[in-house]
Amino acid sequence: MNKPVDLPIGFSEEEDSNTSANPSFDSILSARLSRRGLLRGGVGTAATALFGSAVLAGCGGGDDDPAPVAPTETLLGFSAVGKSLLDSVVVPAGYTATAIYALGDPLAAGVADYLNDGTDTNFENRAGDHHDGMEWFGLSAAGAASATAVDRGLLAVNHEATTDENRSSFFLHADGGTSTLPRPALEVDKELAIHGVSVVEVRKTGTAWAAVKDSSFNRRLTTLTDIEIAGPARGNALLVTKHSTAGTATRGTLNNCGTGKTPWGSFVTGEENWSGYFTRPVGDDAARANDKSVTSLRRYGRAEGATSRHGWESAGAGDIYARWTNAKTGVSTDGSDDYRNEMNGMGYIVELDPYDKSKAAKKRTGLGRFAHESAAFGTPVAGQPIAVYQGDDSRNEYIYKFVSTALWDAADANPADRMATGDKYLDSGKLYAAKFNADGSGEWIELSITTPAIAAYAGYTFADQADVCVNSRLAGDAIGATKMDRPEWCAVNPANGEIYFTLTNNSNRRVEPTGSSQLAPDSANPRVYTDIKGTSTSQQGNPNGHILRIKEGAAGSAATGFTWDVYLFGAESGAPGAINLSSLTSDQDFSSPDGLVFSRATGICWIQTDDGAYTDVTNCMMLAALPGQVGDGAKKTLSYSRTAGGALAVDTYIGKAPTASTLKRFLVGPIGSEITGLTETPDGKAIFVNIQHPGENTAQANIADPTKFTSHWPGNTGYGAGGATARPRSATIVITKNDGGRIGS
Ligand code: FEO
Ligand code: CA
Ligand code: CA
Repeated sequence: MNKPVDLPIGFSEEEDSNTSANPSFDSILSARLSRRGLLRGGVGTAATALFGSAVLAGCGGGDDDPAPVAPTETLLGFSAVGKSLLDSVVVPAGYTATAIYALGDPLAAGVADYLNDGTDTNFENRAGDHHDGMEWFGLSAAGAASATAVDRGLLAVNHEATTDENRSSFFLHADGGTSTLPRPALEVDKELAIHGVSVVEVRKTGTAWAAVKDSSFNRRLTTLTDIEIAGPARGNALLVTKHSTAGTATRGTLNNCGTGKTPWGSFVTGEENWSGYFTRPVGDDAARANDKSVTSLRRYGRAEGATSRHGWESAGAGDIYARWTNAKTGVSTDGSDDYRNEMNGMGYIVELDPYDKSKAAKKRTGLGRFAHESAAFGTPVAGQPIAVYQGDDSRNEYIYKFVSTALWDAADANPADRMATGDKYLDSGKLYAAKFNADGSGEWIELSITTPAIAAYAGYTFADQADVCVNSRLAGDAIGATKMDRPEWCAVNPANGEIYFTLTNNSNRRVEPTGSSQLAPDSANPRVYTDIKGTSTSQQGNPNGHILRIKEGAAGSAATGFTWDVYLFGAESGAPGAINLSSLTSDQDFSSPDGLVFSRATGICWIQTDDGAYTDVTNCMMLAALPGQVGDGAKKTLSYSRTAGGALAVDTYIGKAPTASTLKRFLVGPIGSEITGLTETPDGKAIFVNIQHPGENTAQANIADPTKFTSHWPGNTGYGAGGATARPRSATIVITKNDGGRIGS
């Protein structure tokens, strides 16, 4: 659907609160470029791209690179899937895609099958909604953790959000639910429970995969689950609440988006658009005496007067509802009698041992607090620190790296206690934010209380390192990190250790910016154009997004310098060359890259989209790629004309253009869905993919008329109740090759 982030029509929750004055190029004119090769008149002129020839220096594959994954068959041998507007999952000939785990499916013995008519309850024991990132954890026949199992395992699945319009998660309620306040507790209780994470066992019998609905491993984390605060902010004054007066715990995880798997075999999940679930009343700034917490709350999207996405705070006087009002209402000086600090308990990477339900999840505060997507672990090297790469998905936000104090011990790959191993590697280390330079180099700037620009920052006075971690966006502002085009997932190429980041789109880029939130193009975010969708010209900035990659310097995980280029620019294949900079063909073109996962079995880079710009032509999709390396393409100078100040030249570095054998569309999803999350069996013969929010563009007012639902997937495939008129459900699919081969061959 036509929206910038995982939110329903009319709901704008993606942060837009970075008004810091970090350097970016002076700007200028607006290229007005249209879809399908048409150049339309009007304001501005077509951009022209002036080709440069200098190859980015020093970026070739080094001799010390890890050996590439060696495929045993021809990869990308399948026939590309065409663009599709069908209400189904389309995969290449010779492949089969089957739904196995959908919203509401039971996760415990005795829980009734999902009726999918709005009358279901007990969501604490059912699959949550909006399946997102996902990781595989193998199980041996005896039920022990196994790195080699290929027919039995656990899927740890994020449940990011819910399909809603005007507050109500309408497919969960028989009549669509209430849009006015106060909202009934019976509705809110369901919505509180369908967010979070699930762990579900899956098994293969013959060639068929299925979820094991009564497995003892099955588990849910919801918005109410007890979770420990770990790392530098544990016990800090910023985490003190009525619920945890010691500042050591909070309840729940929220808006779980991307995922990761640690080198020691645990699961990590990123909390993304959590800010919008809180309300903050007018008058709260004064109640706080305009102290520095107001600066923090504004920087994280909650100026006073902000209203919440669902109105959960209105459902009653109970503590589980009151906590969603982020306000100073008590008389204490430390916040131990209210929820003025409650938002400081969200926005982290959360670690979970999927094999052990007895162990509480932990929020790893050392990795920073922002709109987290995935957490990608650098390839571990014995005796070297562990690096974790991360993005903050909001317009104009930053890319981060965490580097552990502890050095990697290979014996920790299979530890007796995974959460204790997480304590070792994730609770002490350095946090950095990235600066991208116009010459193709970049720097990791440490976010430390002793970093001079942070210690002396005029915009916010940091008390200690915990404050730096909790307010990492403000620390990024202080050191002048580069504002990016919405960093979504990141992933590490197992062939050479390079790190890929999807930058999904940014409607705030302008050649001649106005206001504090618009930015001129820069080298790492170099495109500004207008994409025409139908007759609409409202898609401006960088509507199609790009995929950037970096190569660490000689110090590897601990490097403070890197080189970078743009692997691919999203674009329509018919767009002018100044937009379609990667020369994508109709078998390759895509918009708004989001999910990004490298297969460890085949080395294929899977690219998934969550798009609103190209959805008049195709539903969201997944592509298979075999990328090269940083520096395999060339420098290019993009030239923009301006109404004042002459031309603007922006140097960028573009990876070698893909060929028909290195980039190919593999899957297109049902109507209204995004494709997100991917994990695989270790042999690469089964991949699991999530179809999030099919039918999201259904109007709540049409809840009584199934013929007006925009999607009926997966009910229309025979999965679950409802058949051809079913309410749509987010779901996990498994993809197998009919000849038993590896996926992507
Ligand atoms: Fe949850 Fe930024 O996608
Ligand atoms: Ca998304
Ligand atoms: Ca995402």
